[in-house]
Amino acid sequence: MRILVLNGPNLGRLGTREPAVYGATTHADLVSLCTGTGEELGVDVEVRQTDHEGELVGWLHEAADEGCPVVLNAGAWTHYSIAVRDAAAQLSAPLIELHISNVHKREQFRHHSVLSDVATGLIVGLGAEGYPLALRWLADKAT
Ligand code: DQA
Repeated sequence: MRILVLNGPNLGRLGTREPAVYGATTHADLVSLCTGTGEELGVDVEVRQTDHEGELVGWLHEAADEGCPVVLNAGAWTHYSIAVRDAAAQLSAPLIELHISNVHKREQFRHHSVLSDVATGLIVGLGAEGYPLALRWLADKAT
């Protein structure tokens, strides 16, 4: 069983991007954290990041075709991309929507997600540590 961790725009810049909001963990650190958690749990975890919406849509199609659980941090697309939502709606395995920051404490435009009602559950505001939590839950429930 494989779990895909899919990160959207600007998340490749973690570590240097607004560290007061997103913390000091880089995307490379996040990859190690997730793959290390996967090894511990005995599941194959693959982490990807893109700044291109169509690429994320393609990865979600791949997950839908494979019946693969997904941890999705769609970044800004969370708030307006119907294309990402429509792709996420095709998943049959559980989907966790994740945000590093507590979007509800931030600007009004971050309070609405077009993904939440097609997600199985959400992890919001727990920093990079949210990713291993999501993976543990998925490994327990979905594998
Ligand atoms: C984010 C929150 C989004 O509002 C923002 O556009 C991001 C990151 C988060 O992880 O906190 O890029 O998804």
